[in-house]
This record gives sequence, structure tokens and C-alpha cells, in this order.
Amino acid sequence: MRFRSTAFLLAIVLLFACQSKPKLSISKQAWGSTDNKEVSLYTLTNANGMVVKITNYGGIVTKIMVPDRNGKIENIALGFDSLSQYTKEQYKKACPYFGALIGRYGNRIAKGKFTLDGKEYTLAINNAPNTLHGGIKGFDKVVWDAAEINGTDSVGLALTYVSKDMEEGYPGNFTAKVTYVLTNKNELKLYYEAETDKPTIVNLTHHSYFNLSACKNDILNHELTIFADSITPVDSTLIPLGTIAPVAGTPFDFTKPHKIGERINEVKGGYDHNFVLRRSGLGLSLSCELLDSTSGRFMEVYTTEPGIQFYSGNFLDGSLINSDGVALKKHYGLCLEAQHYPDSPNRPNFPSVVLNPGQKYSQLTVYKFSVK
Ligand code: GLA
Repeated sequence: MRFRSTAFLLAIVLLFACQSKPKLSISKQAWGSTDNKEVSLYTLTNANGMVVKITNYGGIVTKIMVPDRNGKIENIALGFDSLSQYTKEQYKKACPYFGALIGRYGNRIAKGKFTLDGKEYTLAINNAPNTLHGGIKGFDKVVWDAAEINGTDSVGLALTYVSKDMEEGYPGNFTAKVTYVLTNKNELKLYYEAETDKPTIVNLTHHSYFNLSACKNDILNHELTIFADSITPVDSTLIPLGTIAPVAGTPFDFTKPHKIGERINEVKGGYDHNFVLRRSGLGLSLSCELLDSTSGRFMEVYTTEPGIQFYSGNFLDGSLINSDGVALKKHYGLCLEAQHYPDSPNRPNFPSVVLNPGQKYSQLTVYKFSVK
């Protein structure tokens, strides 16, 4: 009898243990429609309870839920709970690109002009006097095809978008595939692939705004390390001057951890610069580390790209409200956008962004979360 009740108790305990342990999964919910296309929201959960929500509208990551050092799981990415908040005019005007996939060309191209194989192309000026993040309707504002992926140690979402020849002024029918993968090691991996049928230019990136305090504070107390010995200095319109300037002795030296707020007042407008990553070879290498010592949350960024745009959320003005009800004021989030350098099509001394037919574009960026 005694044995039976002990066994019964054990069975109950086991049942609870099994139920409360998060399971690696991906689920899909209807999230409205735009451009006459259905939009979905996908919830990726790993075995540690880390959750990433991604919509196939703009490939936008709307939430990243990670534990702090006490195991409290909270959202550390700026975003909204409904599609209409991303499609409404007020948001499009503010243009913060929360969590979005950026293409065909991330960051700025001077005066919206570039020449390829002797032919000049003109793009929309959506960030006067330049073009920014793919133009008026970049990859952040289109509906991507989506396919769920179930692995043994990870789940993923493969997003595909075909950009037509001359869409937003870019030559070539261009197929982009971005696969988000959430692993049981608390990594969010982004595999980018692309092909074209005519020579074109490409610079795909991702625009999540991170706030490891879960928006309890701004990001000025976050400690940042960027493994970069130089930046590409810019003019007043944020177009590179074409030079590569060492960071040593400047507020851009993040080769050792520094609080973002420590020297930000010495940088006109705040940080919005491309850092030239220290790397050997073309493989995946550690580019940045970010720590919020209050929550203990720690993020590492690995990438195959040559540069990273560190943007300290300078244009946020409190008019947008996060899914947790927080007004997103200046510096309430920061972006670490792995990329090729801005305005590369006009800078032959920068790594090339040209993609020819028959070539395969690929890049990998990994955001890895842990605690300290
Ligand atoms: C990038 C740019 C910034 C700004 C943001 C979006 O990071 O470099 O200047 O346009 O995107 O607001």
C-alpha cells in the first residue's frame, strides 16, 4: 500500500516536471493581412523557455524573451503586439525598422545613385538627401513566404522574398532567403542567402533594437565591446567619407567594454556608425558583446560580415509604445546591424557588394544570450 502511494506521488511529480519544462516548438497564428496577403506570427520556443516571435511581414522579430540572472524571462527587443502598429502611417513616418529584415541594401547610398557595369541607377531618396535601407518599400515592408523548420536541437523559420527586376530601382530579379533559427543554446541565428539574374548590389541585415533591461531603463548603462579597431567616418548626412579611421583614443574605442553613455555626448547625434570588424579570414567571428549588469543579461554577436552598424536609438522620441506599454524614448534600444559598409557601391576601396548571376550571396549572424 505504502509502495503504491509513493509510486503514485512519484508519477504526479514526474508529470508536473514534464509539463512545466518548456518544449522546443514552433507555432503559427493568424496576424491579419496586408497587400492582399495573409500575415502570420510565429512563436519559436526552445527547451530553456527562450521565446522569439517573428512575423513574415518584413521578417520582423517582434519579441525576444530571455532570462535574467534570476531566471526571470522578459522581452529584450523593441516591438509591438499587432500588425497594424507596424503598418500604420505614424510608424512608417518614424521609420525605426524595429526588428526588421533590411534589403536589398542596408543603410545609406549617397544621393540614391550608384553605377554598375557603366550604367547609373537611381533609387528613391527616402532619407534626404540619401536612400536608406532599401528605399520606400524595402524588404522590411513586404510579406515574405514562410516555412517552419523542426530540428532536434533547434527550430527555425525560413523566409523567402522575390524582389522583381528594378523594384525600388535595383536591377535584377533577386531571390532572398533568410532563415531564423532558435537553438537550445539560446542562440538566434540568421542565415542569409540570395541570388540574382542580373548584376546587382546587396547588403542584407537585421534591425532588432536590444534593451537587455527589458526597457526598465535606457541603454546608456549597457556595457558594450566591439572588436573593431576602426570605423568609417561619416559626413553630416551619415554618408561615409571613404576613409577608415582608427578608434584608438576616441569615443568609438569599444575594444574594451565601455558604458554606452560614458562618452556618447562627445559624438554628435549619438552613435550611428559602421565599425570595421577585426577579423581573420571569412568565417564566423565574435564582433560584439553587450552586458546589462543590473539584470545580468549578456549578448554576444557573431558574424561573417566585415562591418557592424552600432546605432544607439538616437531618433527614438517616445512617441511609439512598446508591447509592454513603455514609451520608447531616445536611447531605449540599440541596434548592432551586421553588414557591409554603408555606401559601398560608391566606394571602390570598401569590400564589394556586387552580386552577379551564378554567384550565391550568403552571410550568417548569431545573437547569443546568456547571463553574467
Ligand atoms: C540605421 C541607420 C540610422 C537610422 C536607423 C533607423 O541604423 O544608420 O541612421 O536610420 O537605421 O531609424
